[in-house]
Amino acid sequence: MKPLSTDQIRQAYLDFFQQKRHTVIPGASLIPENDPTVLFTTAGMHPLVPYLLGEKHPGGRRLCDVQRCIRTQDIDEVGDSSHLTMFEMLGNWSLGGYFKEEAISMSFEFLTKILGIPVKMLAVTCFEGDSDAPRDEESAEIWKKMGILENRIGFLPKAKNWWGPAGKTGPCGPDTEMFYWIGEGEPQGTPATHDREWLEIWNDVFMQYNKKEDGTFEPLKQQNVDTGMGLERVAAVLQGVANVYETDRMKPILDHVLRLSPREHMLGNHEMESGIIRHARIVVDHLKAASFIIGDGIVPSNVDQGYVLRRLIRRAIRSARQLQIEASGTFTPAVADIVIEQYAAAYPLLFARNKTIRDALAHEERQFGRTLSEGLKQFERVAAGASSMIAGVDAFHLYDTYGFPLELTVELAGERRLRVDQEGFASAFEAHQKLSRAGSEKRFAGGLADHSAETTKLHTATHLLNAALRKVLGNHVWQKGSNITAERLRFDFTHESKMTPEQIQQVEDLVNWAIQKDFPVSYHLSTVDGAKEEGAIGVFDDRYGSDVKVYVMGDREITFSKEICGGPHVARTGMLGSFKLQKEESSSAGIRRIKAVVIGGAKEIEVAGEGW
Ligand code: SER
Repeated sequence: MKPLSTDQIRQAYLDFFQQKRHTVIPGASLIPENDPTVLFTTAGMHPLVPYLLGEKHPGGRRLCDVQRCIRTQDIDEVGDSSHLTMFEMLGNWSLGGYFKEEAISMSFEFLTKILGIPVKMLAVTCFEGDSDAPRDEESAEIWKKMGILENRIGFLPKAKNWWGPAGKTGPCGPDTEMFYWIGEGEPQGTPATHDREWLEIWNDVFMQYNKKEDGTFEPLKQQNVDTGMGLERVAAVLQGVANVYETDRMKPILDHVLRLSPREHMLGNHEMESGIIRHARIVVDHLKAASFIIGDGIVPSNVDQGYVLRRLIRRAIRSARQLQIEASGTFTPAVADIVIEQYAAAYPLLFARNKTIRDALAHEERQFGRTLSEGLKQFERVAAGASSMIAGVDAFHLYDTYGFPLELTVELAGERRLRVDQEGFASAFEAHQKLSRAGSEKRFAGGLADHSAETTKLHTATHLLNAALRKVLGNHVWQKGSNITAERLRFDFTHESKMTPEQIQQVEDLVNWAIQKDFPVSYHLSTVDGAKEEGAIGVFDDRYGSDVKVYVMGDREITFSKEICGGPHVARTGMLGSFKLQKEESSSAGIRRIKAVVIGGAKEIEVAGEGW
């Protein structure tokens, strides 16, 4: 029998959980909405945080989806057999519904019945217990009942078998992880004893706790299940290939890159082979991730997501150069073409934005080419000043600023009978990594999607602003982006010209009027079509699935704002205090950007509930 393709596994997963009465929801963008604390969506649970904390989801208590995720912390492992910068996570959730028994039995059924994995190829781990939470004998017992042998059940401490919170605080709990035997010969031991030979493929997290500021754990209002299965890894084991790059959707991209390399013929040569393969995998991984990130609306830049994107593209080009592939403007778009070809069926947005993706890559590739020539000049300066050795910091500067791989610096230095202080390079490299890691940890430390009183108020203010803009400027105004921190809101919308001071004043006054009216805020459930029919505004892409929440701010006489949204919001507009529009500026062609704050509202808020 032909092994399941990646597309078939994705579909089988959704079908299976739908049949188990889960609502299939669309995966979210790689760029978190209204969440300034993290750069990228890192797990399927990430867009669901408000609902894991108790907010009602329009799809109900049982959800499943496929979520594209980016994890940059593993970037140095990319190129091995199983780590990817971007991967697809298949997930199912219980929001205060089923718990361990049902979650584990569905996982087992899917793995063994639907995917047909023999039980003997599987092992699991459970939480071994500590002073915060007991040993998870319950999960182990359920696994045994399913047919997993006791000697395939390992117990591990918190570092391994506990998930979350994704930030400093938030929902978390013990997990049970599922592994597939990839070692030689017959399966042996458990992941606790044979770590390298068992590949993690799925994780069921039992979110029972909320980690608090002071580091203690309190039971959550609702017990949730959050699972995540790595699609590429599952495809690799089912397809009997040793690594994710050889799976059906990734291999054509890898083959293309290898074909372009004049070093391809060295593939039989053991010494050269691992280097060549590793660089080719890095190209595939990075340009695939880059294509998706651009597809989700980011362009290369020197800040935030744009900077990560730029580094991914440049690292890919560096690896391409190691493969002696020329990259002067057409290489990266050609790889993206194949990425799009492979993934457009599952991700139509890649196809819809294929020109944007190609153009952004081509532009960055050319620009990087220029940076590299600048680097050559810099190298000449450094070399002219060196007597016998190029200092590690200089080599690192060439690497970091001009994108010179160390090998290139060594090679050029060799031509001038110079050596390179490689140890000095390594320590400069390490120091830099520590710094950037500290940076990303700091970013994460705020916790996922901060749903504090301040951000909730600003979120409600965003709806009032959106409505006010449409009343003052006209119905051509549509939301193009929204970003909320604890300090301010930022709102991008379609409008051709700069707003006049009068218009700005009118909008501000109108929002403050709506605040003073102290309108009640509530939501009701609807479908996208139903919401459109009743005149709700909102971002009508498929981000919320077919069932949506419609938030209404108004009273019996006046509906001030009616908007599709996931929530949460404050229960009455009066809680906002007052609204101040601080800045109106251009964001890009045809798009204006407003920054605004709310001042002096309620310290403690009540959250809007279901109305009508
Ligand atoms: N959040 C868990 C993970 O990332 C399960 O989805 O593994």
